[in-house]
Amino acid sequence: MSGLFITFEGTEGSGKSTQAALLAERLRQQGERVRLLREPGGTPIGEEIRHTLKHSSSNQAMTAEAELLLMSAARAQLVREIIRPALAAGERVVCDRFFDSTTAYQGYGRQLDLQQVQALIDFAVGETRPALTLLLVLPLRESESRRQSRHSATTPPRDRLEEAGPEFFARVERGYQAIAAAEPQRVRTIDATQPIQTVQELVWGWVRPLLARPEHGQSAAATRR
Ligand code: TMP
Repeated sequence: MSGLFITFEGTEGSGKSTQAALLAERLRQQGERVRLLREPGGTPIGEEIRHTLKHSSSNQAMTAEAELLLMSAARAQLVREIIRPALAAGERVVCDRFFDSTTAYQGYGRQLDLQQVQALIDFAVGETRPALTLLLVLPLRESESRRQSRHSATTPPRDRLEEAGPEFFARVERGYQAIAAAEPQRVRTIDATQPIQTVQELVWGWVRPLLARPEHGQSAAATRR
């Protein structure tokens, strides 16, 4: 049996979490067994790491290297505890962020050595790689204003990563552009300024053909190691 592994990527405010949830719902309506996950997180250990990364009161001192290792640790756990067993059982796995976030944020954003970042990604995931990645693209200024408007007196304060400056997010955006250019077959870009419904249909347009041909949607190797 062979599952299907799909990831969503994009900058803050791009709507990827909404779209991941909408896709999961649509797949369920089609009678598919679906696992909706998020990174960092998705397991008890991963959620603790997420808290350390985003909200812990002492995390302002965190170095870029520690951030990279924590992201990778959460991912190594998620891959082995949840993703591989789910794929082996034939489930559709939808993940809100995966390794492209590490390349974009820690590699390009934090300017860590890209080869070292890639080596850690490879170590964390082994052969478990998405068949399809939907990259929701939002112009930098729009992403910034959505990020601002998400926070008010009633919402939680911005987390450590959201506090990074505009130059950081400009580099992240360039990182995503480089990722999409390097792997156009896997990474499909979608203009996220469009209405939610339109984006949802574009997402479905990329996903549906993979459902008909599951053996193309996930290499058998993705469930190994
Ligand atoms: P989000 O769930 O709101 O998207 O928050 C996750 C944050 O973590 C977001 O700022 C992007 C960041 N992140 C990385 O920097 N590297 C990673 O590998 C992942 C998965 C997330």
